Amino acid sequence: MPQDTLTITDNRTGQSYNLPITDGTIRAMDLRKIKTKPDDFGLMTYDPAFTNTASCRSAITYIDGDRGILRYRGYPIEVLAEHCTYLEVAYLILFGELPTASQLKTWVHEITHHTMLNESTKKFMEGFRHDAHPMAMLVSTVAALASMYPEARQVHDHENRLLQIKRLIGKMPSIAAMSYRHSVGFPYVYPDNDLTYPENFMNMLWKMVEPKYVANPAIARAIDILFILHADHEQNCSTNAMRCVGSSEADPYLSTAAAAAALSGPLHGGANEEVLRMLDEIGSKENVHAYIRKIKEGKGKLMGFGHRVYKNYDPRAKIIKWTADRVFEVTGHNAKLEIALELERIALEDDYFVQRKLYPNVDFYSGIIYQAMGFKPEMFTVLFAIPRTIGWLAQWQEMLSDPEQKIARPRQIWVGHDTREFVPIEKREKQQPATV
Ligand code: ACO
Repeated sequence: MPQDTLTITDNRTGQSYNLPITDGTIRAMDLRKIKTKPDDFGLMTYDPAFTNTASCRSAITYIDGDRGILRYRGYPIEVLAEHCTYLEVAYLILFGELPTASQLKTWVHEITHHTMLNESTKKFMEGFRHDAHPMAMLVSTVAALASMYPEARQVHDHENRLLQIKRLIGKMPSIAAMSYRHSVGFPYVYPDNDLTYPENFMNMLWKMVEPKYVANPAIARAIDILFILHADHEQNCSTNAMRCVGSSEADPYLSTAAAAAALSGPLHGGANEEVLRMLDEIGSKENVHAYIRKIKEGKGKLMGFGHRVYKNYDPRAKIIKWTADRVFEVTGHNAKLEIALELERIALEDDYFVQRKLYPNVDFYSGIIYQAMGFKPEMFTVLFAIPRTIGWLAQWQEMLSDPEQKIARPRQIWVGHDTREFVPIEKREKQQPATV
């Protein structure tokens, strides 16, 4: 018997099956051979929320959640955050190798020359209410780009795909900044090609009447590091949305909008906004014990804590803590940091959190830094979506190039009625409303 196999005995029939084990997995389709009779559909697995199902083979991001390891294309996140710019990391994530100096120069030039938005985007933006959530504006505007680049539908044309990827990486900060300026009622600012990617973003956010925007280098570097940390995170909820929507061969703008919509939820990228609300609710260090007690009684969750994959300290949270100190040197101390540190200290000693392996995740400290930089909590998830765009697009490209991938379409276990006889409306008796 080959060693890398799994023997399954079906006790309904007494029959045994040998299934090959490859890369620590069995193929779900191999289970379909397991039948009680020839016309039986065959066995399926039931895995709501994909907690134990690999949906793809990927060579982009590696996470070892038990050991707190995160690597892009084999390089540890700590090394990339220390030595690289975001655009350098974006190149690595997309193409698989770090760029040479001349490759990087060309790449930066190309991205910089795609930061401009079509003027009609302004009109689109003006249609939003003054208090529209910036994430709703971002998602809708990214989707609207599909109307400007109809050729993007040719998703199997490699060159065309690359052009749309460069456009999206270039335009995300422009759309994000526009949504911010709209929410505060300021005129939109055009990109400035002399500036780096984070500096240009700052320019589009914060330039007022000065002829040339000059970015604070410490803040620009902090934004770049935060962008590196958020660039990809393997098969998370929004990436799964990107792959799922992209698998229907929808164009990259619509698929990216779908991924960004998934990111907006409070259990995913929306958590950083919730962390700030939670810290406001706690109010001061003295109230932390009482707040933790409330969480342990099942009244809510500690936002910014816990992760589906990390059962150890999220390596990104460590780098963010370090980055926070550099930012506070410029902006001054943020009182919320004290509450957050106390919350972390108490939670990490508490049995409830220790037993469940709940550690701070990337969202726990990022909001505090963003707030110190002057962002409103509503902008936090937008700040996550900008850098994650390269992750979504690299995963989308990998999915399209994978001959094993098809349109994503899970199965279900039917729990509804068997065939029922139709009752004409005049004969229907009052029934309980159907539960949905
Ligand atoms: N606070 C308190 N208890 C928690 C928390 C939390 N933040 N997270 C999980 N738990 C508890 C659960 O209630 C559960 O307890 P039980 O076993 O007594 O029922 C146990 O820990 C396991 O939690 P699950 O919900 O099964 O973990 P899952 O992997 O499904 O969820 C998630 C992961 C969604 C991130 C969850 O930890 C959470 O909601 N955290 C808060 C929101 C957050 O910070 N999200 C950002 C994640 S990072 C990102 O997406 C970028």
